[in-house]
Amino acid sequence: MSADLTFRQPIEDDHARVLAALGPWWGGLKGEAGAKERALLVPRLYFQHFTPTSRLAERPDGTLAAFLIGFVSQTDPDTAYIHFVGVDPQLHGQGIGRSLYEWFFGQARESGVRKVKCVTSPQNAASRAYHARLGFEVSEVLPDYDGPGLDRVAFTRSLAAERA
Ligand SMILES: CC(C)(COP(=O)(O)OP(=O)(O)OC[C@H]1O[C@@H](n2cnc3c(N)ncnc32)[C@H](O)[C@@H]1OP(=O)(O)O)[C@@H](O)C(=O)NCCC(=O)NCCS
Repeated sequence: MSADLTFRQPIEDDHARVLAALGPWWGGLKGEAGAKERALLVPRLYFQHFTPTSRLAERPDGTLAAFLIGFVSQTDPDTAYIHFVGVDPQLHGQGIGRSLYEWFFGQARESGVRKVKCVTSPQNAASRAYHARLGFEVSEVLPDYDGPGLDRVAFTRSLAAERA
């Protein structure tokens, strides 16, 4: 993995630049509607109230390299949820996404969590392949999961035992 990145807890001031990454980093997935959908999924509140279980990576010049937004379920203390993850496309394939997830798995385990969940759009083939490599089980397509026309696939990974 790229050794010159700094990983830290996000702060409220990071919100705007994470929003700015949601278009280019997703490669225009689902066009303008997709960009709006993603922006609405990342409101400021995540940078106010969810930061201890979230992570951000920067290059030495301070530019954003990657981020993860996650939390332990308020409903089920056995479950943690990764809401959003993104890695700068220039840095894909270097293990940065895996590193963010492994950090999150460690935090979750320390909180007594037993499984991690997340969802993605069925069209996001990279996300589906990535989560499969990280040991997640994937559901069928769940029609209208997040509202009319907002289909999702759901991922679940047990934290019970270490995996390759
Ligand atoms: C999905 C994403 C976070 C992966 O980040 P990354 O840093 O490139 O992933 P890593 O290098 O850590 O890869 C981890 C594993 O997943 C695999 N993987 C990653 N992207 C893949 C792809 N597009 N196709 C197939 N496998 C992939 C890698 O080969 C690697 O496997 P290995 O460790 O067993 O060799 C990144 O592609 C991204 O930001 N995409 C756009 C945003 C997005 O779709 N986010 C997820 C939905 S919210």
